[in-house]
Amino acid sequence: MFGQTDFIKYLIKTMRFKKPLDLLLKEAAQTGEGTLKRTLGPGNLIALGIGAIIGAGLFVRTAAAAADHAGPSVTLAFILAAIGCGLAGLCYAEFASMIPIAGSAYTYSYATMGEVVAWVIGWDLVLEYAVGAATVSIAWSEYLNKLIENFGVSIPYEYCHSPFQSLNGVHGIINLPALFIIVVLSLVLIRGTQESAALNGIIVIVKVAIVVLFIGIGWGFMKPINHTPYIPVNAGEMDFFKGHKSFLDYFTHDFGHFGWSGIVSAAGVVFFAFIGFDAVSTAAQEAKNPKKDMPIGILVSLAICTVLYVLFGHVLTGVANYKEFEAAGKEASVAYTIETYMHSYHWLSLLVTVAILFGFSSVILVMLLGQSRVFFSMSKDGLVPPVFSAVHPKFKTPYKSNLVFLGFVGVFAAFVPGDVVGDMTSIGTLFAFMLVCIGVMILRKSDPNTPRPFRTPWVPFVPILGASVCLLMMLGLGKDNWLRLIIWMAIGFVVYFAYSKKHSLIRKGIVNVPKDPLNPHL
Ligand code: ALA
Repeated sequence: MFGQTDFIKYLIKTMRFKKPLDLLLKEAAQTGEGTLKRTLGPGNLIALGIGAIIGAGLFVRTAAAAADHAGPSVTLAFILAAIGCGLAGLCYAEFASMIPIAGSAYTYSYATMGEVVAWVIGWDLVLEYAVGAATVSIAWSEYLNKLIENFGVSIPYEYCHSPFQSLNGVHGIINLPALFIIVVLSLVLIRGTQESAALNGIIVIVKVAIVVLFIGIGWGFMKPINHTPYIPVNAGEMDFFKGHKSFLDYFTHDFGHFGWSGIVSAAGVVFFAFIGFDAVSTAAQEAKNPKKDMPIGILVSLAICTVLYVLFGHVLTGVANYKEFEAAGKEASVAYTIETYMHSYHWLSLLVTVAILFGFSSVILVMLLGQSRVFFSMSKDGLVPPVFSAVHPKFKTPYKSNLVFLGFVGVFAAFVPGDVVGDMTSIGTLFAFMLVCIGVMILRKSDPNTPRPFRTPWVPFVPILGASVCLLMMLGLGKDNWLRLIIWMAIGFVVYFAYSKKHSLIRKGIVNVPKDPLNPHL
């Protein structure tokens, strides 16, 4: 039998198959890839972070986390999630600054920890990017419905919900608006898009402005009763703390349903709201002064978002009672809250809804783009079929890859509930972050001399704590999500052994320098 120790031995053996770092850096420099202009200062990095971060996590998942796990104490969940992100982000930045080429955790791990770990991360990133895009598209569908309601029209429930959802005996069939936005944005990607710093700047300002407006105006509509108790009681948890209940009983039945454990579970859910801050880490090679600016970019954008998120969660659960987010206010919760309780502010609801629709679109675009970049690199390395790196003759985009992912993401968007895809995205991304934290420690031992423009402070304390907080949030997401992660990774291993291992170019001694598919001249 192929046991656990055999597997570990195999893993160590495959660490031989890594992209040679020296060669990679040399070739990258020759092609100009390692010589990206260092133009980004701390302000740009912070804007990049905030632009990528604020989205469906805040405007949709906050209410879900409050209703199902934490009530008003969703604010504490934001703080826990931010701590995990900050620690993991510092590790991510060391990785990114060590290997100054366009890429992501996949490329860094291939060069440093070998093929199997790289495969695991690359495959896992599909959950972050592709399934994440589906999550935001479902949130987009909710807010679109709210918007058109203002004009007296609405999409029938059956056509804007998954078959696994029902309301008052009506079952969903397909989520057409979610599918629609994925189709449109995939076509935009195929046509080619320049990531415009100016447009990103405007979207950042609009997103922050609506969050601040909601907090500022909503503050006066809060009712103390909605915040009492701030941490809703979990009776099973109390029994456990008093010694009247076994840990197993508590863990399998009560964990995550309010109380302290509810905050941990809610942190796993709202972690989604922080996804994207790794965009800052991947810009390490463009930072003017990575040593100083990277931690500033990561930590300040996280800090600004955390403050906004905490205040936002506080106001949202203060204006409407968190229990309403289980039913009437479950969808488009912010617009619901404004319309139901802040009567003279109909304009705000309209403004928020329109801004959210634009904001979500930019998040979906970034996620679909990230997905095509990762699979482009994996395809160039032979780990996934060449179709993922086929470039359109005119548009110079990986159009076939975009089409495959249009199908894949489209299926999730159309047929799976938002809660399910949202939590799958969270657990998958947390897993990738955990591996990155562990990776930094391994690399300090295995490659101590490679220059690191940015070094994670207090190693191994920061990586160990980062990995632990990520693991804690993963535990908080419960067994169904673990099962989904395990199934996804199991499928990944089947693909790896059936295809990737045989086609891997590194195993044939060929080194490919990854290029950004949308910007091959980088
Ligand atoms: N953080 C991004 C969002 O909340 C993914 O939409």
